Amino acid sequence: MKTLKTMKRSFASDNNAGVHPKILDAIIKANNGDCIAYGEDPYTKEAEKKFKEVFGENAEAFFTPTGTGTNVIGLSAMLKPYEAVVSAETAHIYADECGALERVAGNKILPLKTTDGKLTPEMVAPLLKEGHGEHAVIPKVISITQPTELGTVYTVSEVKTLAEFAKKNNMLVHMDGARIANAAAHLGVPLRAFTSDAGVDVLSFGGTKNGMMEGEAVVFFDNTLSKNFKFIRKQSGQLISKMRFVSAQFLAYFENDLWLRNAKHANEMAQLLASEAKKIKGIEIVYPVEANAVFVKLPKEKIKALQEKSFFYMWSEDSGIARWMTHFATTEEDVFEFIPNVRKVLEG
Ligand SMILES: Cc1ncc(COP(=O)(O)O)c(C=O)c1O
Repeated sequence: MKTLKTMKRSFASDNNAGVHPKILDAIIKANNGDCIAYGEDPYTKEAEKKFKEVFGENAEAFFTPTGTGTNVIGLSAMLKPYEAVVSAETAHIYADECGALERVAGNKILPLKTTDGKLTPEMVAPLLKEGHGEHAVIPKVISITQPTELGTVYTVSEVKTLAEFAKKNNMLVHMDGARIANAAAHLGVPLRAFTSDAGVDVLSFGGTKNGMMEGEAVVFFDNTLSKNFKFIRKQSGQLISKMRFVSAQFLAYFENDLWLRNAKHANEMAQLLASEAKKIKGIEIVYPVEANAVFVKLPKEKIKALQEKSFFYMWSEDSGIARWMTHFATTEEDVFEFIPNVRKVLEG
């Protein structure tokens, strides 16, 4: 096979990144003969143990191929047909999963407006008082994204406060951790401090956006919810046949804290990008830069020219807000090549 031309590294998305060499190496090493399929292999057993080490003995991890599928099946396990999920209106499950939860599980999502992507008990509380009895769905799960889709990070105490509120109101907490490593890198605490130890019930653990080729996990901290989960995973098309190759990636991901090193680097590159962008006339940074996303408000008439220099997606066409993302392979040189181009277009 010949190597095909790909795009230049850009700030469009961490999904556009390649695979970390240590992850690719782990895949090659796992390619050693036959293994029982569907997770009954030694790599998967070892990786499941690793999740217990990281999140505590109660943690049960089920590996999955996509982030959307992970959210859908994790939430399915938490809900009865007449129960609903409360999320921020910017949440990936609400805004960017093509109605997958509604289609696959049949549960409704109740979106709430936020200023920074984060939910608080005060925002959720009014939904519990609506009093339509059996005529309305029951808000059962609070789903938070960590870091949020706006690049902000819930503190440990913010997660705990939400979880306490949920318990008091007979609700459960789901965390979409598609970029959970970036949140841990920002907070400087172990992964379990803001998940299992903070009262989260089910976690969507992401690896793909932080250097893995493909691999996510539904992690249960409440074992009553994981009963029969294997059936939900299979029925929803999320059971991977050659699972050893995802499990081997997780083993490499946790070895020598590769996950954390990748995420710290991505976050540092976002800080650099933001601090350089701030110096350019006409750019406003619209949300606190806490993980690996930088949201910038740009003069609308300049956007096309900027995208021609280096492609990026618009978060909101109407308000001229773009999302620039960094990842494990972003370099300082990438930033220092991009910024002068932006300056040239904006300052003339
Ligand atoms: C916060 C968040 N959750 C979930 C997903 C879904 O991941 P996938 O594209 O693998 O379905 C994404 C994807 O970008 C995401 O940003």
